[in-house]
Amino acid sequence: MLVLPSVSRIVRLVAHPDGALRPEHFEIAEVPVQPPTPNEVLVCNRWFRVSISTRLMASKGAQSIKGIPFPPLNLGDTLADGAIGEVVQAPAESDLHPGDLVLHGFGWREYATVPQQDCVRIDARGVDPAVYLGHGWTAYAALTHGVQVHDGDVVFVSSGAGAIGSMAGQIARKLGAGRVIGSTGSEEKARWMKAELGYDEVVIRGATPITQQLAQAAPDGIDVYVDMVGGEPLQAAASLARHGARFVLLGALSAELAAEGAEKLAPVELDTFQLIVRGVTLRGYSACEDDRDGFAEWVRWLSRWQHEGKIISPSSRFQGIEQGPFALSEACAGNLKGVVLVEL
Ligand SMILES: NC(=O)c1ccc[n+]([C@@H]2O[C@H](COP(=O)([O-])OP(=O)(O)OC[C@H]3O[C@@H](n4cnc5c(N)ncnc54)[C@H](OP(=O)(O)O)[C@@H]3O)[C@@H](O)[C@H]2O)c1
Repeated sequence: MLVLPSVSRIVRLVAHPDGALRPEHFEIAEVPVQPPTPNEVLVCNRWFRVSISTRLMASKGAQSIKGIPFPPLNLGDTLADGAIGEVVQAPAESDLHPGDLVLHGFGWREYATVPQQDCVRIDARGVDPAVYLGHGWTAYAALTHGVQVHDGDVVFVSSGAGAIGSMAGQIARKLGAGRVIGSTGSEEKARWMKAELGYDEVVIRGATPITQQLAQAAPDGIDVYVDMVGGEPLQAAASLARHGARFVLLGALSAELAAEGAEKLAPVELDTFQLIVRGVTLRGYSACEDDRDGFAEWVRWLSRWQHEGKIISPSSRFQGIEQGPFALSEACAGNLKGVVLVEL
């Protein structure tokens, strides 16, 4: 039985980052634990996810970005992200009970009052929290519902060590890819990607031009591209696309994580003559918006692949809410691998 404290801690934005995001842009504050209203559930959070999209949400001009899937953050706002927590108090008529574990969107706080309809009960005891909070689901949806992978395809995944990318490379292989190539920011990550995630080759941003590196890694071109970055790797993928290649565009890290500050626009110059001649398909895809019902399908496949010992759910883990801002700044600086989780 949980003893309810009178106050708990949250993380809120105190300065909009201009340039690199730093822990000082956030503060840990103590606030009273709010009793839930009749339609709310009081949850004691156990884990929350740290997403690099928070940098864009926290940037000054975020309000003016059309169509971003997350609410922009104003100064003083509490951050939010996916979380797993234990129900403390639930409406009598709900099917939730104290002690149940639920998935919800109010991370970055020790206790959350969550609208009842936003709580999803999960059977997560003994299960790696990265299964529920990680981005394997996004990668799976992109590679099954966004594009299709055919047997023997050459697949390129940008930001291939990141939250989505670390799963996308492995899933592409499970779906029949013959050769899987990733991109990353360091030699150390490249070695880890080959050893742990099964990438055949890895190209490194900031070294020689990516088109040149990709041409060496995929001399006959690529069939599928999972784009987390935009910019240079997208140009490289377009220039090496084989006939009938399929691109699924998920993110624009080159703009979101630009060194000089999160950019609102992610422009890129592509040779559209070549895309037309080779019949290349480019599809922008949002796993949440385009495919809300496939999560259960993903969890079934993941448990089967995990049972066979053929897939891992990489994560970088931190302990305690006070580590959240540091975890976020490290993630944005490219120093972490897989999904970033904070345990409370
Ligand atoms: N469409 C959807 O359904 C969906 C859902 C969730 C997220 N997203 C978007 O998908 C993208 C990937 O999300 P994620 O959470 O998996 O992020 P992520 O790949 O884990 O992002 C962090 C990584 O980005 C790389 N990076 C850092 N600076 C960069 C720069 N200037 N240019 C390019 N890469 C840089 C670093 O990796 P390396 O050092 O290894 O390069 C860093 O570790 C994001 O744009 C996110 O907003 C899309």
